[in-house]
Amino acid sequence: MSVMDRDILKVLFTKEEIAQRVAALGEEMRQDLEGKEPLFISVLRGAFIFMADITRACQVPCDVEFIAVSSYQNATASSGVVKITHDIQQDISGRHLVVIEDILDSGNTLAFLRQYFLTKGAASVKICTLLDKPSRRTKAIHADYVGFEVPDEFVVGYGLDYAQKYRNLPYIGVLKPEVYGQ
Ligand code: PRP
Repeated sequence: MSVMDRDILKVLFTKEEIAQRVAALGEEMRQDLEGKEPLFISVLRGAFIFMADITRACQVPCDVEFIAVSSYQNATASSGVVKITHDIQQDISGRHLVVIEDILDSGNTLAFLRQYFLTKGAASVKICTLLDKPSRRTKAIHADYVGFEVPDEFVVGYGLDYAQKYRNLPYIGVLKPEVYGQ
């Protein structure tokens, strides 16, 4: 057991369960996206691990981009303000985009990004999120591809952090409340 494991209240999805779900989701996406030469855009930093796995699980000709946004600033609830801190590096007009996220929570980030990409001339914008927390939604946005639905608990691991830590846990777990001071 690592020092990080000790901060975990319970495991929601094991490494094996994630791998199995990502493989199935990748195959579902392959069938939809065949012939579209999609551009996969990963939202940093949380989606970096999921991006690496889902792009390999979805065997279509594609290219990849990365965008970084910030809204949480080390707090556990969204401030609602989305700021681009690193933008994509190419013209996306006429492209079929798939935005890759680790978690869809209030929907602030993806509602903003979806509009941003459409304004830049994307032909279509699909959303793929590993985790969906619908109970927290404040924006009218839904994902086209969802790995797992999760309850309103503080989840970390497989890219998801608390105060920038725990992203490298191979599983997804719920953090002990005392770790974030409750
Ligand atoms: C998390 C997550 C999403 C966003 C989802 O990012 O990666 O981008 O919050 O929440 P929302 O639906 O309420 O907008 P965070 O700001 O924690 O940054 P990170 O990706 O660097 O962890």
